[in-house]
Amino acid sequence: MDLIRTVDGMQDHADVARSKGQTLALVPTLGALHEGHLALVRRALKEADHVTVSVFVNPTQFGPDEDYDEYPRDLEGDRDKLEALGVDVLFAPSVAEMYPYADDEALAGPLSWVEVEHLDQHLCGAYREGHFRGVTTVVTKLFHACKPDIGVFGKKDAQQYVILKHLVEDLLLDIDIVGVPTVREADGLAQSSRNAYLSETEREQATVLYDAVSAAEEAIQGGEQDAQAVVRAMDNILVTAPDGEVEYAEVVDAHTLQPVEHLAPGQDVLAAVAVYFGETRLIDNAFVEVPSA
Ligand code: PAF
Repeated sequence: MDLIRTVDGMQDHADVARSKGQTLALVPTLGALHEGHLALVRRALKEADHVTVSVFVNPTQFGPDEDYDEYPRDLEGDRDKLEALGVDVLFAPSVAEMYPYADDEALAGPLSWVEVEHLDQHLCGAYREGHFRGVTTVVTKLFHACKPDIGVFGKKDAQQYVILKHLVEDLLLDIDIVGVPTVREADGLAQSSRNAYLSETEREQATVLYDAVSAAEEAIQGGEQDAQAVVRAMDNILVTAPDGEVEYAEVVDAHTLQPVEHLAPGQDVLAAVAVYFGETRLIDNAFVEVPSA
């Protein structure tokens, strides 16, 4: 596996692979890789001849009060895991390489942003101002650096996945966005780098997120068409975690990410929750197709 640190080096490498007729997949990550990321990598290896995994803790998607400095970093560990899976390239640029003006006080950060409007008004976007603008900007840059045919993302970050699908469609990027189902612990908790921050008691209670979105899925599949009733079903479960502070429990249209009141037969909806345990923010969701009457 090659470790590439520069955008030029990455572009040259991608050009060579393309000139050999290979199909290219990119798995963008923030690093500190766990089983959830490795599922994305395995999928990429199935879908393409050549797989690049990027490890870049992207400062522009973290808010001023978020955990950018504390975010876990383990490039050596990540490298070993990716090498063992047979990944072709680990692309690990520095912040200066991705954002040449990041340290310039006058210019302060990127000069150009990529933004998908409206889809960040609800769910996580309502609470993390500027987060999705940071994600869409860095993912566009990673696409230009790595030149993939497909980009592989986890459906656990449901809003990100939907926004990125719109991004490639709106900007006519010739890249398929592949979504991979959430990888879970035995008790249902979605795998996340942030699970490592939970105390033993918080970890036990954190299963309420999965229980809540499962209850939403069950209610919708059982014929419930009132979105508020589905939200109440999720809330009733979330409140059973004494150390959890619910940020949101919402049901939105799975394509527009706008809230729905009445669930229409055949409609694709997304039931999603975010809960804080202490400083640790966890999310989970279920994509559900409303059954035909
Ligand atoms: O989902 C993530 O890990 C990040 O948001 C991503 C897609 C790697 C962009 O920094």
